[in-house]
Amino acid sequence: MALADKDEAGVELRKLNWRRDRAAVLGFQYEIYETNFPGCIVDDTFIRDYSLTLRDALRNPNDSLLVLEKDGQVVGFVWMSLVSTLLDTCVGYIKNIYVAQELRGRGYGRMLLEAADEWFQTHGATKATLDASVDNEQAVGLYEHVGYRTTRLRMEKPY
Ligand SMILES: CC(C)(COP(=O)(O)OP(=O)(O)OC[C@H]1O[C@@H](n2cnc3c(N)ncnc32)[C@H](O)[C@@H]1OP(=O)(O)O)[C@@H](O)C(=O)NCCC(=O)NCCS
Repeated sequence: MALADKDEAGVELRKLNWRRDRAAVLGFQYEIYETNFPGCIVDDTFIRDYSLTLRDALRNPNDSLLVLEKDGQVVGFVWMSLVSTLLDTCVGYIKNIYVAQELRGRGYGRMLLEAADEWFQTHGATKATLDASVDNEQAVGLYEHVGYRTTRLRMEKPY
């Protein structure tokens, strides 16, 4: 879906507007972090720090942030970034993705990642990358569905 078009369910994909969308996007972080990092507590300090990082990203040409809107409510969000790595000078990195619970399983996560692919490719990225928690089956299922493959593993040994 092109930016600012609406689909048949009335969902629109558009750029994030700091004043209009900040509260909703910050609200998403509770589920994102507490699900993907069990034990992580999203408190006022976390939200304040995240809010500052988000505001900086809006001014950074290497970052792009899109939201999904339905009936005046923000119902999804993706934050994408261009980074360089040891091997690649320009790689796309998905920093954060969220779809409201009531709209999951309808292709909106895929839509956000396709929008990210388009932005990455038009900005010279040679590949798209992201990190995921192995226990997050919905997210990993989505990423595999749109073509991501596991290339590195982060291993842990609890004491
Ligand atoms: C991860 C998330 C963005 C997925 O959004 P979504 O809109 O439900 O995803 P989609 O409907 O586009 O799913 C597309 C594909 O992903 C796969 N998928 C979706 N849910 C799945 C599940 N529970 N198990 C396995 N695969 C799944 C399917 O292949 C699906 O394609 P299909 O519908 O044609 O079968 C959403 O679950 C979410 O916001 N989760 C909370 C936030 C979060 O954890 N973000 C990830 C941080 S790393």
